[in-house]
Order: sequence, then structure tokens, then C-alpha cells
Amino acid sequence: MTAATATTECLVTLIVNGERVARGVPARQHLIDFLRLDLGLMGSHAGCEHGVCGACTVRVDGAIVRGCLVLAASLDGRTVETIEGVSDTGEIRDLQDAFIAANAAQCGFCTPGMLITAADLLNCNPAPTREAIRETISGNYCRCTGYQAIVDAIEATAKARAAVGGKS
Ligand code: FES
Ligand code: FES
Repeated sequence: MTAATATTECLVTLIVNGERVARGVPARQHLIDFLRLDLGLMGSHAGCEHGVCGACTVRVDGAIVRGCLVLAASLDGRTVETIEGVSDTGEIRDLQDAFIAANAAQCGFCTPGMLITAADLLNCNPAPTREAIRETISGNYCRCTGYQAIVDAIEATAKARAAVGGKS
């Protein structure tokens, strides 16, 4: 058996933002590069490319992952959701509106990953404390905002959802 090289192509079929995608991908291409370069989904960002900054955060089968740590070739048959997908469905509209209202996005580089992470938090814990919010987003680096406005926006979203009886 011959070992895969960086240029070995693997055929993968997956669902990305609700659409079936079948592509040949280099064996060592990371998901974030596949999304950005092959599919043109530029919303998720590549920052550190070492699993540290969180800019590349997306969902695979509903769980948040770092797109720079996952090989696209390993995702055959899986479901991927990016910031484009969750924006188009309206799932996080209120969270996005809260980010705008709180001025929680400045340069915007961290924002897609931050939103995906925040949405996951609110799905798991609809009423997080500010400390829990800070803990959850501690793996998503923001160089602009100082985090206060981001925590405010996530907390405001949680409270608004609670006020209307909870929203997933
Ligand atoms: Fe993936 Fe920084 S680019 S964690
Ligand atoms: Fe610029 Fe967060 S808004 S890095």
C-alpha cells in the first residue's frame, strides 16, 4: 500500500450548508482551505492555522470544530455548516443583530468564528453567566473589541430569547 502524499486526491461527498458537494481534495488539505478556496465560502477565516485563534470555527455534524485542524478528506459523508449557512437560515439573526447593536464586531476577522461559538453556547446553555460566556469564547481571539461588547451581545441575546420563552 502506498502512503498518501500531500498531492494525493481523495474523493469526498459531504453536505455543506444544506447542499451536496462531491469533490476530489488533496489528502492533506484542511477543511478551512477547502471551504474558502474550493467552495468560495470566505466567511470562515484562517488566522493562526494551528487551532489556537478560533477564526476558522465551523460546525461538523452539529459540533463546533476548528477548520484548520480537520482534513477535508476525513469528512466523507459528514455535514458541514459555516457562517454563510447559519446566516442564510436566519438561525443566528438575533445574535448577529445583538453584535451589531453592541458594536461587538470591529474589523470582523474573529466575528464568524465568534458567532458560531456563541450560537453553540446558547444552544447548550440558554442562560449562561457572563463568566461562562467569557470561558466559552476564551478560545476565540479578538484583537479589536476587548471582549466586553461581545460578552454584552451574547448575554443580551440570551436574555431576549428567555423573554420570548426561549429560542433554540
Ligand atoms: Fe484555526 Fe486559528 S485558524 S484556530
Ligand atoms: Fe477584529 Fe475581533 S473584531 S479581531
